[in-house]
Amino acid sequence: MKSSTQSLPDYSDVPRHIAVIMDGNGRWAKKRLLPRVMGHKKGLDALENLVSECARLGVAQLTVFAFSTENWRRPADEVGFLMQLFMQSLQKKVRRLHDNGLRLRIIGDRSRFAPEIVAGIEAAEALTAANTGLCLNIAADYGGRWDILQAVNRAVADGHHPLTEDTLRPYLSLGDAPEPDLFIRTGGEERISNFLLWQLAYTEFYFADVLWPDFDAATLAQALASYRRRERRFGRTSEQLPLQQQRP
Ligand code: IPE
Ligand code: IPE
Ligand code: MG
Repeated sequence: MKSSTQSLPDYSDVPRHIAVIMDGNGRWAKKRLLPRVMGHKKGLDALENLVSECARLGVAQLTVFAFSTENWRRPADEVGFLMQLFMQSLQKKVRRLHDNGLRLRIIGDRSRFAPEIVAGIEAAEALTAANTGLCLNIAADYGGRWDILQAVNRAVADGHHPLTEDTLRPYLSLGDAPEPDLFIRTGGEERISNFLLWQLAYTEFYFADVLWPDFDAATLAQALASYRRRERRFGRTSEQLPLQQQRP
């Protein structure tokens, strides 16, 4: 995979890889005087819509932040509900992804999940591994710092020293995917919250005030329209870019 810090990546108007922080579930529920967990349930529907829309548009990789390394600090009942929802989705939703030719990968630290969840993850990944459609990467117990540290530790253990981008990349989550072209965060907050720190080096950012459960094809279209207007220079000048990548 080409590195954005080393060469000009190939990209076009349709992002090859979109990364999303699905934020605002709790506030969506609170506005409706519902328990926060209802927002998470509704958020899962929004994710299903996003996945089908991205597959339709020809996006190759979609990476969504479902649970961060810091989210364990939430109240135990909310964490418990999220784990249950994760387990249920692995059981109920994976078949449909598979039937549509999609691939599923879970990125993050698996060591804190219950054994049933780990088994569910492994089964889902194995079932869909050979599919060639959109690859949905779900970040669960994921943190950008965790990712860099686990990659460095494994690379060093394998004898790589000094490390280079090329020797480190295969150890990072998503090391075999193009780096995200577009990053979307809903919920109005404008921060990375320890998502893909390494991989977002040259990603275009789009922030939307819409709360995640209300995210729909129209919001995605707005993000894509904004993305198409960006001139991605990767450190160069406008004039150095191929003509079709220059923006007036
Ligand atoms: C994002 O929505 C989902 C998770 C972090 C699991 P939130 O639960 O953070 O919703 P808000 O930000 O409190 O509204
Ligand atoms: C980021 O959202 C993590 C996920 C969406 C899973 P948070 O709601 O946890 O982020 P902060 O704490 O507001 O930065
Ligand atoms: Mg939040």
